[in-house]
Amino acid sequence: MPILITPSILSADFKCLQSEVDSIESHADWLQVDVMDGHFVPNLSFGAPVIKCIDTSLPLDIHLMVSNPEDRISEFLEIGVSHITFHAEVTDIKERLALISVLHNAGVTAGIAINPETPLSEVLDVLPEVDLLLVMSVHPGFGGQKFISDVLQKVEEARSLYPDFMIQMDGGIDASNAKECISAGANNLVAGSAVFSAEDRAEAISALRS
Ligand code: DX5
Repeated sequence: MPILITPSILSADFKCLQSEVDSIESHADWLQVDVMDGHFVPNLSFGAPVIKCIDTSLPLDIHLMVSNPEDRISEFLEIGVSHITFHAEVTDIKERLALISVLHNAGVTAGIAINPETPLSEVLDVLPEVDLLLVMSVHPGFGGQKFISDVLQKVEEARSLYPDFMIQMDGGIDASNAKECISAGANNLVAGSAVFSAEDRAEAISALRS
């Protein structure tokens, strides 16, 4: 499976968000938007009103770090996104299946995310229904944090169960650990500061792929 690189705009310069996106558009595969509500995670970021101002051909990957994903989905469906991921920690199996159904009915792929302390067993019952598993390698809320390598074991376990499945990793990923993430089985790497703190973004993204 190809390795997808998904820059996260949380680490971009918000004074010039469009030019920041332009600087990575021809090198990246997806663009991740970290939606934070200041409740599920301690930080507050942005919602659909900001995201709809971004003009890009990259598929928008919405990462809902919110306590009530069911209330946030419609605003993103209205602006035309490709992927929406919600967190296992704020949903039970019934809610997860309902969210997946809403997303699929809207023609959007559905992802489920697990924090570093959440075991893979928590989502095994819903993995056959989703399109993506997001394994967090930091405690969500901020960019620029240290990579938590313990989560690699969850990636290996998920890959052994699902050989052909989108497994995304997110948090503290850079050229020093991208290879071990890929070796563990991740095929979609989210990177914020490793990309947007780099002068040469093309090179930074290429270094994550190799
Ligand atoms: C953390 C976010 C990540 C973060 C990645 O809560 O979900 O997407 O922005 O940023 P880096 O790559 O700098 O850890």
